[in-house]
Amino acid sequence: MKHKKVVLGVTGGIAIYKALEVISLLKKLEIEVQVIMTRHAREFVTPMTFEAMSGRKVLTDLFTLGADSKIEHIEVAKTADLFVVLPATANIIGKMARGIADDLLSTTLLATKAPVYVAPAMNTNMFEHVSVQENLGILRDRGVVIIEPDAGRLACGDTGKGKLAPPEDIVEQIVWALEARQTLKDKKILVTAGPTVEPIDPVRYITNPSSGRMGFEMARAARALGAEVYLVAGPVNLKTPFGVRRIDVTTSEDMYREVMGLYDRMDIVIKAAAVLDYRPEKVHEKKIKKEDIEASLTLERTRDILKTLGKTKSHQFLVGFAAQTHDVVDYAKAKIRDKNLDFMVANDVSLKGGGFQSEWNEVYLITRDMQVTHLSLDKKSVIAKEILEKIADMVK
Ligand SMILES: Cc1cc2nc3c(=O)[nH]c(=O)nc-3n(C[C@H](O)[C@H](O)[C@H](O)COP(=O)(O)O)c2cc1C
Repeated sequence: MKHKKVVLGVTGGIAIYKALEVISLLKKLEIEVQVIMTRHAREFVTPMTFEAMSGRKVLTDLFTLGADSKIEHIEVAKTADLFVVLPATANIIGKMARGIADDLLSTTLLATKAPVYVAPAMNTNMFEHVSVQENLGILRDRGVVIIEPDAGRLACGDTGKGKLAPPEDIVEQIVWALEARQTLKDKKILVTAGPTVEPIDPVRYITNPSSGRMGFEMARAARALGAEVYLVAGPVNLKTPFGVRRIDVTTSEDMYREVMGLYDRMDIVIKAAAVLDYRPEKVHEKKIKKEDIEASLTLERTRDILKTLGKTKSHQFLVGFAAQTHDVVDYAKAKIRDKNLDFMVANDVSLKGGGFQSEWNEVYLITRDMQVTHLSLDKKSVIAKEILEKIADMVK
């Protein structure tokens, strides 16, 4: 990310301190940050704090010439790779929507051709006010990206929507925007992740140790490449990747229903979930007494979701995952044929350092014409990016 420059417009909201965290995260990625502060922002935090964090002089005044007597707002506007307003007050949102240019920040925003991202933060009543919503609508229609605020307890004591999005999510969006590889834009992608859980009675169940990490990283990577992503997830303890629509399920039957309900509308389906192949034949409504538990449990096959997807496939690009402990590639090749898949990701879960529960993975990628590529041990986030880039190439 060297040589990329973000201009950060900071306005007078109580979430201003989070802008410092965003700068710190951007600097770690070696992204240059030029801060512009409004007069009201300076009522909350001094420019010196922002100067120390960004390592650059903070700009505040419209009527001061820059180096070589250049007109500062035009120079800054021209050199920005990305413009981010954070926190964005109701006031700056209104000014941007109506083209008002009465200070350095609002004037520079009119002069820039860089993509503009706006992260609103304010009291819920302010955020929901029709004028703020109308102004946000105007900005959206112009291509400004609104980093939606979260709902939660606000600084003013109220609870509702208006809390600045988490700094790490904002930074993720900034990085995607700077990378500008929107190779999956306009594609709808369904990813499944995690295990399924099949009940025996209300307090007992069978499942497997899938953490869901690989699927979640696939969803995150797909979103980063611009796709509209739906994530059907079994019970896992993971945060939803930013901008991804998550649907939680428990059993393989729930997963089947949700996946089939979305299938027609999808362009790409990535089945990374570890769906149980078998479930207890009988689910007891009441807890089975210890003394009544039988020594063996009768199981029945669950529905083969991937096979059904392969059979009913029309336009979709279908990606399967195979976790094996031996003959990984041979098994994956057979699965491509058997289930009418377009692409397989196969991994050996017996390998040390990778597989279930781990943050790391080592995989083989197999195409429909049986070409095999090996991706050596790396973080699941890196592996997921590489896989999604390959998929983007194939569906082009
Ligand atoms: C303590 C305090 C907290 C404020 N917090 C916010 C806020 O979170 N969001 C917002 O839109 N306005 C907030 N305001 C109001 C703005 O500071 C005010 O509208 C100001 O004119 C914004 O100017 P600017 O957009 O040029 O920075 C707050 C005001 C005060 C006094």
